Amino acid sequence: MTLNLFDEPAPAYLQPMAIAPGAAILRGYALPVADALMQGVEAVLAAAPLRHLVTPGGQTMSVAMSNCGALGWVSDRRGYRYLAVDPLSNQPWPPMPNEFLALATRAAAEAGFADFMPNACLINRYEPGARMGLHQDRDEGGKEENFSAPIVSVSLGLPAEFLFGGLQRKDKTTRWLLLHGDVVVWGGPSRLAFHGVAPMKAGEHAVLGARRINLTFRWAGLDD
Ligand code: SIN
Ligand code: FE2
Repeated sequence: MTLNLFDEPAPAYLQPMAIAPGAAILRGYALPVADALMQGVEAVLAAAPLRHLVTPGGQTMSVAMSNCGALGWVSDRRGYRYLAVDPLSNQPWPPMPNEFLALATRAAAEAGFADFMPNACLINRYEPGARMGLHQDRDEGGKEENFSAPIVSVSLGLPAEFLFGGLQRKDKTTRWLLLHGDVVVWGGPSRLAFHGVAPMKAGEHAVLGARRINLTFRWAGLDD
């Protein structure tokens, strides 16, 4: 038998690390394109600025948000939903930059979800102290609540403690430190898993400064 070096599997530290059935962390997967992603983020935010949304219960979120792609996630006193238009400008959300789409599709495939075609990208900006309580991503999938597409979540900037639980709010969570360039993918049996982000610690990232940017890619259903 001859050993072809080029056919060898990637080293263990570069392989998706399973954190639950259907859920994996791809360490450093976005690092090669991190600068391009940040350029895309700044361009999107120039057209659709970050804002602190209000929950249906009337609380202002500590994470500031914006969107790009055909659909964008919003929250207000009326509830959570996807909109084709930015309510701040009444204009369509900025298009999803090509490198966003390419990375999300590649990362999903790497984690076992072929042909992921997100039409929504939520941009989350965390400053020290910001947090995201345990929740499920379940506003996607359109009227038929089709959850066959995974979630792809890209971390840039300051580290975060990511909490990943089960299908019930009360299920035990595991904690994962997410660093600049890490990607988390969850779908299949984990698609509706509860997840959240612990309060962000103070810090200074060499490229992003005192913030963390998270890009969350979803297929949010048809825009009708
Ligand atoms: C989210 O659940 O929308 C964000 C997760 C994260 O910031 O890592
Ligand atoms: Fe989420």
